[in-house]
Amino acid sequence: MRAVDIIIKKRDKVELSREEINFFIQGYTQGEIPDYQASALAMAILLNGMTAGETTDLTLAMAHSGEILDLEGVVPIAVDKHSTGGVGDKTSLVVAPTVAACGLPVGKMSGRGLGFSGGTLDKLESIPGFRCDLSTDEFIQQLRSIGIVLTGQSMDLAPADGKLYSLRDVTGTVQSIPLIASSIMSKKIAAGAKAILLDVKVGVGAFMTNLEDARKLAELMVEIGKMADRRTVAMLSDMNQPLGQAVGNALELVEALDTLKGGGPQDFREHCMVACGYLLALGCVAKDETQGRKLAEAALEDGRSYERFRALVQAQGGDVRYVDEPQLLPTATIVNRIPAPRKGYLKEINACEAGETAVLLGGGRAQKGDQIDYAVGVVVHHKVGDLVQAGEPLFTIYANDQRKARLAKQKMLAAHRWSDEAVDRLPLYYGVIR
Ligand code: URA
Repeated sequence: MRAVDIIIKKRDKVELSREEINFFIQGYTQGEIPDYQASALAMAILLNGMTAGETTDLTLAMAHSGEILDLEGVVPIAVDKHSTGGVGDKTSLVVAPTVAACGLPVGKMSGRGLGFSGGTLDKLESIPGFRCDLSTDEFIQQLRSIGIVLTGQSMDLAPADGKLYSLRDVTGTVQSIPLIASSIMSKKIAAGAKAILLDVKVGVGAFMTNLEDARKLAELMVEIGKMADRRTVAMLSDMNQPLGQAVGNALELVEALDTLKGGGPQDFREHCMVACGYLLALGCVAKDETQGRKLAEAALEDGRSYERFRALVQAQGGDVRYVDEPQLLPTATIVNRIPAPRKGYLKEINACEAGETAVLLGGGRAQKGDQIDYAVGVVVHHKVGDLVQAGEPLFTIYANDQRKARLAKQKMLAAHRWSDEAVDRLPLYYGVIR
């Protein structure tokens, strides 16, 4: 077999066989197939697509390009959740401890924020001492002992995906639905998941900006899950406005803690409860998502979810005083509460601009490895559809630099768009695929 023949086949819109895909991925992982040939194949896939069967073969080839975490005997059923990324998306901070509190262990490897979308690890690292670099042994041991782990992907999981993703980033081949689906699913499978909940975000603050593409991606990932013998459900959720109110690392952590203590914004709490319902059903702790949701609500209300989060922080070296007294978390020196410039109905709070505002303030990364400021960000005080009076608080900027605070104010004012007529609220979901 020759790499060039596989590229030519895909260029000519011919379906690749499992052997060809395995040959290419193995050769690429081992450095026998060079980057320029992998780029050519990625571009041919972007232009000509892949069938669900080919995409599943690619997913499994990438999953098996490194170690596969074996969680049999560690947990009854290994469940995982993946969000395609959004603004204000601190869901894992509430969902993982709640699901664990309901008796279903959750060991999750998360990512850092890049661009305007935040990452779970950065939010957790606002807690002094919190470690996100657990070894495989530590991961397994903690999963056994306290039933919850939230860490970074420190192990050599799906190395082919890591290599290919970096290449796609610089060759204009990120936006291919089969490549995105196989990239996400290969990492979940390599991390040992037997049941997967996918939270596919759609809107201006998401990777997929239109519902049609988001649905295609969700359907393809669910199909890969079925073919790879993983129970998989995908929710299609809104990412046109920020989820909850807070955007920024420590601010989001505070909001997640409020939610774990029974408060928090209604939309965020609802989103978390729905996700918990699906996960508990996928993990066979509940007979369906409705029962799962009831279990999750009970765990949130009686303090078990909060207690699991506290145990997580303690186990991973974080200082639990910051969980019990969130006012100790990093705080910004400048706090500007901005009033509404007019009366009207809010017709848009642009999630992308809100995410970019947090980055501008120093709360996100333009490039991998950039330092971030945990304290800064923005808190919105309204949602699309609200009737707001002139002068009422519209949003609050948390900054550590006067110039950036001024820019952030302008950007957030522009992110809010108004109507004199009543405006429908945005749905939280556009559907579920299973
Ligand atoms: N996230 C991933 O993990 N992979 C992609 O290709 C895109 C988003």
